[in-house]
Amino acid sequence: MSAEVSRKNVVVFTGAGMSVESGLQTFRGDGGLWEGHRVEDVATPEAWAKDPVLVLEFYNKRRRKVRAAQPNAAHRALVDLESAYDVRIVTQNVDDLHERAGSMHVLHLHGEVLYARSTRDPSHTQYLGDTDIALGDTCPLGSQLRPHIVWFGEMVPAMDEAARIVSQADIFVCVGTSLQVYPANSLIDAAPRRTRRIVVNPEVPDLVPGDICECIAKTACEGVPELVASLLR
Ligand code: APR
Repeated sequence: MSAEVSRKNVVVFTGAGMSVESGLQTFRGDGGLWEGHRVEDVATPEAWAKDPVLVLEFYNKRRRKVRAAQPNAAHRALVDLESAYDVRIVTQNVDDLHERAGSMHVLHLHGEVLYARSTRDPSHTQYLGDTDIALGDTCPLGSQLRPHIVWFGEMVPAMDEAARIVSQADIFVCVGTSLQVYPANSLIDAAPRRTRRIVVNPEVPDLVPGDICECIAKTACEGVPELVASLLR
């Protein structure tokens, strides 16, 4: 007879703050500009229609920065947590730092900057690695490649899957997100009432329901390893 004890599910919802200490910028700092651009000039279908070269260059530059960045202590701590819990990461980040740290289950809500996808068949994606996308680069169907990114105003195809994952959380941890972007920010409500909710953010957003959340007002690299150590104790 086996005496297997079922492991608890930890769902970790991450945002740009998770990767700050790896050297990657957040979106809503710096006077609302993102690498010197207004979001609507580089991260919308309208921007793509108006100036695809600018959009491609913007993401080519971000891809190079991601390639040069390394996972930090917070990414690594979440891998350690897998020794005792079933850990699912749901991230708004388009970098691959969770994967490179070694996390087993990562769902990207807003796409992945290291991939391109077809403008005709959204199911066709291809890994870019160090390669840029240029105007004229096409998918096998012959249509222009675009960054594999969910832009503002576009559907979030992974949202249902994310809500399903969160609905099974025993513990929900929210790291480094301002919770300003819908529908991703609604995930905090998709957790069952019994779920323990913990927020790690040096500036805990006002949108966090303080009555039902434990708040750790620290950076990811300070707060996440501490939290993981306490969960493993
Ligand atoms: N550790 C943890 N959190 C941090 C750190 C840090 N070192 N530094 C900053 N933060 C927090 C900020 O306090 C802020 O609450 O990270 C959050 C970053 O917020 P945003 O820049 O709004 O990023 P995010 O919430 O991930 O944005 C969501 O918006 O621009 C779109 O699609 C893009 O996925 C992105 C989405």
